This record gives sequence, C-alpha cells and structure tokens, in this order.
Amino acid sequence: MDFELDAAARERRAAARAFAEGLKPLAGEWEQAEAIAPDRLREAGRLGLFGMLVEREYGGAGLDALAYAAVLEEIARGSAAFHGCLSVHNSLVCAAVGRFGTPEQKSLYLPRLASGEIVGAYSLSEAGSGSDAGSITTKAVPVEGGFSIDGAKCWVTNGGIAGLFVVFVSTSPAAGSRGISCFLVESQTPGFTIGRKERKMGLRASDTRELHFRDCRVPRRALLGSMHGGFKIAMRLLDGGRVGIGAQAVGIAQAALEEAVAYAKAHRRFARPIAEFQLVQAKLADMATGVEAARLLVRRAAALLARGERCTKEASMAKLFATTTANRVVHDAVQIHGADGCSRDFSVERFYRDARAGEIYEGTSEIQRLLIAREVLREAAP
Ligand code: CAA
Repeated sequence: MDFELDAAARERRAAARAFAEGLKPLAGEWEQAEAIAPDRLREAGRLGLFGMLVEREYGGAGLDALAYAAVLEEIARGSAAFHGCLSVHNSLVCAAVGRFGTPEQKSLYLPRLASGEIVGAYSLSEAGSGSDAGSITTKAVPVEGGFSIDGAKCWVTNGGIAGLFVVFVSTSPAAGSRGISCFLVESQTPGFTIGRKERKMGLRASDTRELHFRDCRVPRRALLGSMHGGFKIAMRLLDGGRVGIGAQAVGIAQAALEEAVAYAKAHRRFARPIAEFQLVQAKLADMATGVEAARLLVRRAAALLARGERCTKEASMAKLFATTTANRVVHDAVQIHGADGCSRDFSVERFYRDARAGEIYEGTSEIQRLLIAREVLREAAP
C-alpha cells in the first residue's frame, strides 16, 4: 500500500509545522489558563485547519485522510490540547455533517464549521456508559415538530467553546445500541446547558465539559441520519477519530523525543554529554523506532480512510500502538531529563501528562484490543 504523502500534502504539512512551531512557546501558558487563546483559534480558521475534511464547495480544504493525519501530527507536536480541539471538530463533527448530513444540514453548517466561525463537539459518553456506548440513557422523545431531549453527558471535548454539538441519545431504550439516534444541537437551544469543566491531568487547555439537557426541544431537521441509526454513525466516526488520536500520540512522542535528544546532547555528567552513555542511547533508539512504527500504522489506517474503505481494525491498531508507544516515549523522555523531567519548567513534564488520555479517550486500549481481536477472528472464520 502506498502511503507516501504527495507534493500537495507535504506542502500542507509544512504549513502546519510552521503554525505549530508558534504554538510551542504558548502551550505551557495555555495549560495554566486551561484555555487556548482565541486569536490562535481564529488564525487556525484562516489557515483552513477547521475545514480540513470539508469539501471545497462548502468552503473546506478537501484534504484526504492521509494529508489530514500528517497535519494533525504536526499540530500535536506543537500543542496536544490544540490538536484535541481540531481533531474532534474535524474528524467527529465536520465528518459527521459531511458524510451523514442532508443537503440542507450541509449548507447550514459546513461553511461555518470550515471557517472556524463555529466550533464542533461530539457527545457520546455518559457517567454510566463510556466503553459500553450502547447503554446511554440520555433520551429523546417525539414532540410536536421535533424531539425533546433529557439527560446528561460528560467528557465532551470543546464543550465550552462549541456552537454545534453532535449528540447521541436513546430513542428506543429497549433496543439498546439499535435504538440510538444522532442529533445536531446548537449551543443556544433552550433547555441545553453547558456544565462543569473537567479538571484534567493533562490536555488542560482543551475545554472538556459536562452537558445537561432538560426538555431541550430540537426540530425534526436536527436528526442526523436515520431514526435509530445513530450508533453506526457514532462507530464509523470513531474509526476516523481514532486515526486522529493516533496522530496526536505520534506528535506528542515526536516532540518528547526531540526534547530528550536536545537535553542529552546539552547536559553533561561524568565529564561527558549524557548522549554519549549507551544506556541513554538505547532509550533514544527505542523511542525513535517506536515513533516511526506508530507513524506508519497511523498512515496505513489513514490511507484506507482516504480510499473510503472501512478501517475499524487498522484504526484501532494505530490508536492502540501509537498511544502505548507515546506513553513509553514520554516516560523515557522524563527519565533522560532526570529531576528536570519532573519540573514544570520542562515541557516533557506536560507531555507525560498529555499522553495519558490517549490510552483512554475515543475508546480505551482495552476496547481497541477487543475490536482488533473481533476483526482478526472474523477474517479467520471459515
Ligand atoms: N462501523 C459501522 N458499523 C459498526 C461499527 C463500525 N466501526 N462498529 C459497530 N458497528 C455496527 C455493528 O455492525 C452492529 O450492527 P448491527 O446492529 O446491524 O448488527 C452495531 O453497530 C452494534 O455493534 P456492536 O454489536 O459491535 O456493539 P457493541 O455494543 O458490542 O459495542 C463497542 C461495541 C466497540 C464496545 C462500542 O460500544 C465502543 O466503541 N465503545 C467505546 C466507545 C468510545 O470510544 N467512546 C468514546 C467517545 S469519545 C468522547 O466521548 C470524547 C470526545 O470528546 C470525543
């Protein structure tokens, strides 16, 4: 399979790298403030980063998944929290409207999403579900002209800054995952309130919220896809989302590797730079090999996505391997920094915390293993 980037994709990646270099010095500040500076979000909008997967006719950049993953990796290298915002917006919201929306929904939302005028959020998780996504209890019942939504959601990336929410609710509780529908909910809808900001270990500048729905009335045209067809939409979107999280893990790991190399060359012990010690070199070798292998798995899954093929197994492999690798790499980067690695004055301390959620959100590593095993067994079935 060919997953080399073409000239246009390399150009996009170079532009993203230049933008991400400007994020690096700000990422620590944003983490303290627990928010990304709005001017950088606006700049990302001007650069087309909010409409990467949106077709050109709706004002997007029309990138394929391969170029998109390469851009996301660069953004995460500069700021993992910024990546979180863009990844959810593009992979889970623009893709939701672009792939499953009616022509009216596309015309109404895609140009505004693509320009960054409105930010998107995706809301599936609840306090009592998470891995068991089919068991959500937030429900919608038909009312005159539309639906009334009641319930609560949690762990919603972009929750506090989004204008449009892709929300999954139960419309037939007895049917489990086959009774889930998806709605496009605007932030100003009466009965819809943004709740508490999660106090996270890492990715602190990414705005993660609870959501509350109390007789929240949405019109019939807010339904995305078919009635009771929401679970498959959620899963298909997460296949793409997981490639994005894989790219985030590669970006964090690449940044940690670069910091570790620079530190090892600059710091001396026993009258020599620590880079000359073989135990440090062994770490750097394993880190670099892991980053490269993770990048290739992410690219392979992205190439399948770009061809419009289902890539559940490959996306799960990419996410599982890349996030596991990133956590090992940031661990070693801190170790190479010694006591400095435990200091907030060094960015590897933040990378160490930022990498952790990758093994949990958009499907835990345990769920990824389950999905990979299912596919492997299915492929081997007589
Ligand atoms: N593409 C298309 N269809 C799919 C699919 C996919 N990737 N995965 C499943 N389906 C279909 C199945 O074929 C099945 O179809 P039928 O009804 O026609 O048979 C249907 O969906 C039900 O599938 P399963 O039987 O596999 O469902 P399950 O209940 O066993 O659950 C699961 C599967 C994999 C465990 C799923 O619940 C899951 O992925 N859990 C993790 C959820 C997750 O990742 N949550 C994080 C959300 S991210 C977030 O909320 C934060 C944020 O801000 C982004």
